[in-house]
Amino acid sequence: MNTYTRFDISFKKGNGCWLWDTKGKKYLDAVAGIATCSLGHSDRILRKKLLAQLKKVQHISNLYKIEEQEELSNYLTKESCAESVFFCNSGAEANESAIKLIRKYGNTTFSGKETFILAAESSFHGRTLATLSATGQPKYQEGFGPMVKGFKFFKYNDIASVKKLIDECQKNNQRVSGVLIEPIQGEGGVIPGDKLFFKELREICNQNNSLLILDEVQSGVGRTGKMWGYENLEIEPDGFTLAKGLGGGHAIGALLVQEKANIFNPGDHASTFGGNPFACRAALTVLEEITRRKILKNVIERGAQLNQGFTKISAKFPKIISSIRGLGLIQGLVINDSYTDAKTITLKAFDKGLLLVPAGGNVVRFVPPLIISRNEINILLKKLDLIFEEI
Ligand SMILES: Cc1ncc(COP(=O)(O)O)c(C=O)c1O
Repeated sequence: MNTYTRFDISFKKGNGCWLWDTKGKKYLDAVAGIATCSLGHSDRILRKKLLAQLKKVQHISNLYKIEEQEELSNYLTKESCAESVFFCNSGAEANESAIKLIRKYGNTTFSGKETFILAAESSFHGRTLATLSATGQPKYQEGFGPMVKGFKFFKYNDIASVKKLIDECQKNNQRVSGVLIEPIQGEGGVIPGDKLFFKELREICNQNNSLLILDEVQSGVGRTGKMWGYENLEIEPDGFTLAKGLGGGHAIGALLVQEKANIFNPGDHASTFGGNPFACRAALTVLEEITRRKILKNVIERGAQLNQGFTKISAKFPKIISSIRGLGLIQGLVINDSYTDAKTITLKAFDKGLLLVPAGGNVVRFVPPLIISRNEINILLKKLDLIFEEI
């Protein structure tokens, strides 16, 4: 269906951070399947592990114990604040599970009272009806009403607007069952969460007996330089969702929860493909390789290099670039509206053999594979400099 405005191009080959189109033109990929191909394209180890997995078993059913799934959930719970995991296939599905879980928690904890889930303005949580309803960007909801009820929106990084919503609910004898929020907003324009805001949000959730669930679909699995985005904020959520980077280009999503939120019982939620051996092998390999190759260190160093390069470029083109935002290898250049737009820059970059993706609020987003090298960042910055010269 006509759901995407596509570039008139297809890629025949990928290797690391590079893609080749059918005409043989080479592109440096700072999109990575939109923050997804953590190990880059056609990674040798991932290929080897997945081929072996295909020879062993590809899909069974959650009716049976799945070794690869148990191994993966052990890894995830050992490396995070969570104690239990539900597997699905995408970010929207992971958040849909989180929304159901928050609702069940609210309906049990505040039985007999109307409950709400709080979400942030300019957030993005997915395209299913419930996740779209939780998305604080009306442009995505247009034409798909009525939205799922039960969401209220506060301003991201603004604790007063959270408090206002909670007070309103209390006054009307309603309760807040939980908060769903990104630790760094991605689609909304690469907006990092504020530490103090998240600390206060954590306290407010504790005081009100509400769950705090983070949407780490874009920020999780090393993207920010920490394994989980919440580590940058020095808080622990009651649960968080993953997808994108977890499978290194293969479809997998997950909802991870601490004991307090481990409330699903058999029959409450399910997914036919969720946690299948193939997808779990992909995710396990990504996680093992992040540790083995010290990829988090690379993300921090390459993120700093990118940021320094951006600082130089924005000093050279102050009329075009209004500011620089981001963490690790999720960074954005905020483009001055009155000068040009992020889309024009991504089109020019495409001509120069550099793949970029816009985000909301006129931002050019950089989410390259986590394995990007020093030399590749230098090439990226050179190309970017040329693009701005021509604008
Ligand atoms: C923070 C966040 N949540 C959810 C989603 C939806 O994920 P998916 O496209 O895998 O359904 C996205 C996708 O961009 C995202 O960035």
